[in-house]
Amino acid sequence: MQVVSSISDLRETRRSWQNAKEVIAFVPTMGNLHQGHLKLVSEAKKSATKIVVSIFVNPLQFGPDEDLDAYPRTFEQDKAALEALGVDILFTPRAEDIYSRGLEQQTFVEVPGLSYMICGASRPGHFRGVATIVCKLFNMVQPNQAYFGEKDFQQLQVIKAMVTDLSMNLSIHGVPTMREPDGLAMSSRNHYLSEQQRKLAPTLYATISDMASQIKQGRRDFSVLISEAKDELTQAGLKPDYIEVRASDSLLQPGHEDQNIVILAAAFLGKTRLIDNIQIAL
Ligand code: PAJ
Repeated sequence: MQVVSSISDLRETRRSWQNAKEVIAFVPTMGNLHQGHLKLVSEAKKSATKIVVSIFVNPLQFGPDEDLDAYPRTFEQDKAALEALGVDILFTPRAEDIYSRGLEQQTFVEVPGLSYMICGASRPGHFRGVATIVCKLFNMVQPNQAYFGEKDFQQLQVIKAMVTDLSMNLSIHGVPTMREPDGLAMSSRNHYLSEQQRKLAPTLYATISDMASQIKQGRRDFSVLISEAKDELTQAGLKPDYIEVRASDSLLQPGHEDQNIVILAAAFLGKTRLIDNIQIAL
């Protein structure tokens, strides 16, 4: 595995791959890799001949009061895990190369609608930061395919919309959420949880799983279901941020015609914000 931090070195290797007609898959990450990230890589390996993984903790997607500085950085461990999986390039660009004109002068990619609702309403500017960095990384890596986790369901929809709207020449693949044995969605932010909070954390998935089975059994009074679920979370000691039932592709309120819906939820445990979702085919 080559570890590359220079954009021009990356482009040089990319050019040689192009000539050899390689199929290039890309997995963007912010590092502190767990089994969820590694699943994206193993899925990518099934259909591509070259794999690029990036590690870049993107300042543009963190709000002023968020955990940019505290975000866990475990480079040597991450590198060993990716090497063991047979990744071809680990791309670790420097912030000053990525944002060479400074964050203020940045040209942004904005996906309206999808970016302002749900998580976007709680984290203003977050999806603009995500769409902008992912667009830039796509321009550097020029992959044929890119892999994203369904764990960040809204992020996946934002990226798909960006790729369609900007006529980008690659396919986007969603990969199901990897969970701990007790149901908690794997996340780098789980490391912030105290032992006590870690015990409570699976309540989020348990609560939306319960909502999902009630919807499958025919319940359609979504707003009642949502407020029951919020009460359940509060009683368990979590602080719900939002729980929403939406149409899977548009993330708008579901109509009678929608066959695919998704329950999206976020809750705080102390300062740590957990997110999760469940897709339901009606
Ligand atoms: P990060 O949180 O590091 O996640 C990188 C990728 O791993 C994302 O596509 C995310 O959805 C996926 N992922 C995280 N936890 C997962 C799990 N438990 N199961 C399956 N996939 C999981 O998401 C980002 O970084 C950034 O926003 C990024 C796209 C890299 C742009 O900066």
